[in-house]
Amino acid sequence: MIWYVATLIASVFSTRGTTAQGAHGVREEPQFVTARAGESVVLGCDVSHPLNGQQTPYVVEWFKFGVPIPFFINFRFYPPHVDPEYAGRTSLHGKASLQIEQVRSEDQGWYECRVLMLEQQYDTFHNGSWVHLTVNAPPTFTETPPQYVEAREGGSITLSCTAFGNPKPVVTWLREGEQLTSNKKYMVSDGSLTVQAIAREDRGAYSCRAHSDQGEAVHTTRLLVQGPPYIVAPPENITVNISQNALFTCQAEAYPGNLTYTWFWEEDNVYFKNDLKLRVRILIDGTLIIFRVKPEDAGKYTCSPSNSLGISPSASAYLTVQYPARVLNMPPVIYVPRKLPGIIRCPVDANPPVTSVRWEKDGYPLRVEKYPGWSQMPDGSIRVAEVTEDSLGTYTCVPYNALGTMGQSPPATLVLKDPPYFNVRPGGEYRQEAGRELVIPCAASGDPEIPTITWRKVGKPSRSKHNILPSGSLQFVSLSKEDHGEWECVATNVVTSITASTRLFVIGTSPHAPANVHVSASTTSANVSWEPGYDGGFEQTFSVWKKKTDLGPHDWLSVPVPGSQTWLVVQGLEPKTAYQFSVLAQNKLGTGPFSEVVTVNTVVYPVSTPEPLVLLTPPRCLTANRTQQGVLLTWLPPANHTSPIDRYIIEFRLGERWEVLDDLIPADETEIMARDLIPDSWYEFRALAVMDDLISESSNVVGVSSTGRTITIESV
Ligand SMILES: *[C@@H]1O[C@H](CO)[C@@H](O)[C@H](O)[C@H]1NC(C)=O
Ligand SMILES: *[C@@H]1O[C@H](CO)[C@@H](O)[C@H](O)[C@H]1NC(C)=O
Ligand SMILES: *[C@@H]1O[C@H](CO)[C@@H](O)[C@H](O)[C@H]1NC(C)=O
Ligand SMILES: *[C@@H]1O[C@H](CO)[C@@H](O)[C@H](O)[C@H]1NC(C)=O
Ligand SMILES: *[C@@H]1O[C@H](CO)[C@@H](O)[C@H](O)[C@H]1NC(C)=O
Ligand SMILES: *[C@@H]1O[C@H](CO)[C@@H](O)[C@H](O)[C@H]1NC(C)=O
Ligand SMILES: *[C@@H]1O[C@H](CO)[C@@H](O)[C@H](O)[C@H]1NC(C)=O
Repeated sequence: MIWYVATLIASVFSTRGTTAQGAHGVREEPQFVTARAGESVVLGCDVSHPLNGQQTPYVVEWFKFGVPIPFFINFRFYPPHVDPEYAGRTSLHGKASLQIEQVRSEDQGWYECRVLMLEQQYDTFHNGSWVHLTVNAPPTFTETPPQYVEAREGGSITLSCTAFGNPKPVVTWLREGEQLTSNKKYMVSDGSLTVQAIAREDRGAYSCRAHSDQGEAVHTTRLLVQGPPYIVAPPENITVNISQNALFTCQAEAYPGNLTYTWFWEEDNVYFKNDLKLRVRILIDGTLIIFRVKPEDAGKYTCSPSNSLGISPSASAYLTVQYPARVLNMPPVIYVPRKLPGIIRCPVDANPPVTSVRWEKDGYPLRVEKYPGWSQMPDGSIRVAEVTEDSLGTYTCVPYNALGTMGQSPPATLVLKDPPYFNVRPGGEYRQEAGRELVIPCAASGDPEIPTITWRKVGKPSRSKHNILPSGSLQFVSLSKEDHGEWECVATNVVTSITASTRLFVIGTSPHAPANVHVSASTTSANVSWEPGYDGGFEQTFSVWKKKTDLGPHDWLSVPVPGSQTWLVVQGLEPKTAYQFSVLAQNKLGTGPFSEVVTVNTVVYPVSTPEPLVLLTPPRCLTANRTQQGVLLTWLPPANHTSPIDRYIIEFRLGERWEVLDDLIPADETEIMARDLIPDSWYEFRALAVMDDLISESSNVVGVSSTGRTITIESV
């Protein structure tokens, strides 16, 4: 367009030179006027009167390029006729110039001023003078996103800014002062910004900036990310003394921010916990206050803020309640066994732990040290080495910790009881075949009560069926392999328990699993040893099972163990590899269960230290020069050698065989003179280096003819 107008104007002016003699309101050159929006500007236009000097009346017309009718017409003192676009802000300035106030960006463009001379018979119409008005405008936004925009966590959003101005502003997006460029998170193009995969961290201010040399405009939008709350100040562990108030914070941020906080004690809502609900309050900021804490309030408190979006987070902390030591459930009667050690306990509950317990016996402070065989144990209990009638009485205890005590226990009366005793003890051992019945006798008495009798298997409890007969005897209706082992008969009354043990061999079963499997591994072998289990009544043999740890359960391989040996060296392992081993016993009735599986790593091959490299290269560049005195041999030392050179050897030959010319040439010499050579002969020489016990390969061979004046040298 500009180009078109310029061409047009050029043609206007080029024609004028010939035809516009007497033109009015004419300038030779187009004017270029620049103004800032809002300012006032004058578009110049002169009136040149005809040569006769007469002041003829004239009409001024102003055209905007592209609009065929003038927007401003002025004739003499009549009010000008103005297009509504320009009304109120245009006026004639001087003879024909136009003043425009409050210039607008839209006013930019080419203007033409035409002056029509009236009362003139000729040349009443001329193209006038051309003015180009440039209106500079600082950037202003025509479209911006709202001040606040919302987006869901995980979603995306596009913000658009369009700016207007002259020259055309460039629009960029900024976040925290940094200009944004397109990447995984943002797509920036043409004044619009797309934020993708929106996360909580994307919340906050985004600014679009429109910039030109006329200035800049900035618009800021805050992105609010809708999502579940985020706990900014989680609760912290606290310790309070009894009756104080406890306070847990739980500050969360969220959008939307209509948060409700729920607090749990252990797994229960604090408002649903009977003892607690009347003493708790949850403040609007999520803080939980527990008034006048009790020891029972101790435990885990969990807060969970929610705005009904997504999964509500939670955070926990522990409340520790300190309270003076107190006695819980002191029994009114304490039974102690006559003539046996007895313990008088003070059942204490304290936090921090109890530091001391004071006792009273029959209302008087009890001095333990005054009674031989009495002592106070670390937990405050009194131990009596042998309970007699002297020990009888009423006991009370008062426990203390750092916070003091909650007071004395109720009184407990000591009552002597005889311990139970066995009337029938089980025998030392029993052997019975599997599947058969067996009764192991045990009976106990006591005075006055009959003690209760129980049986238990030592070690792994037996899942097989067994009964305790009314007499106290242990009955197996049908013995099973599992019953094999050590059993204890326990007789219990209020004061104590006594036990009697016996061994039961269940014969006629497959062997029991070997125990204590031990493996010591080397690089490629491992010595597996074990303790045999019970053989089930028949001779047992073993096999060792192995596999690489990373292989599956089908890859176990077995190696038989010769004779009754209880160890085996497993060969053919790979170094630095994890292996698993288990041992299986077998007798004529079958195999027992596998032993425990032991995992070991074979060791790494010992790293062999390489032999130090011995290197000796031959002497180099041997040359021979015949001189007056003889043949001068020179050479260079070997290029590479690991130790210093000891000496050099020079050898010569006349025919086939090499002979030593000199074998004691010091290492710091690299030439010798070969004298007294046989005339008219073809000599060849070579050099060797000696280092430690090593003789190098030979150097190059040089040949010298001792014939005539001309010396012939050849390298062979
Ligand atoms: C005046 O300008 C118009 C275009 O606006 C052009 O067509 C015409 O030839 C011009 N006349 C003279 C006399 O220059
Ligand atoms: C809070 O107390 C619990 C339980 O006593 C403990 O496991 C946790 O490490 C404590 N936390 C802090 C931050 O001390
Ligand atoms: C609790 O009581 C003890 C002993 O009186 C005192 O040393 C401690 O400061 C108290 N703790 C608090 C949190 O008040
Ligand atoms: C929070 O406000 C949203 C939208 O107004 C509503 O759907 C939600 O139920 C409110 N959540 C809570 C916990 O009041
Ligand atoms: C394997 O270990 C057993 C038990 O430690 C030991 O008695 C036995 O001699 C060892 N065998 C070899 C070959 O080292
Ligand atoms: C050998 O003799 C030639 C000529 O006489 C001389 O240029 C050269 O340097 C000599 N070389 C040595 C190693 O002396
Ligand atoms: C000497 O040693 C260097 C570096 O190890 C090697 O590049 C060169 O070839 C050796 N020279 C000879 C003559 O062996």
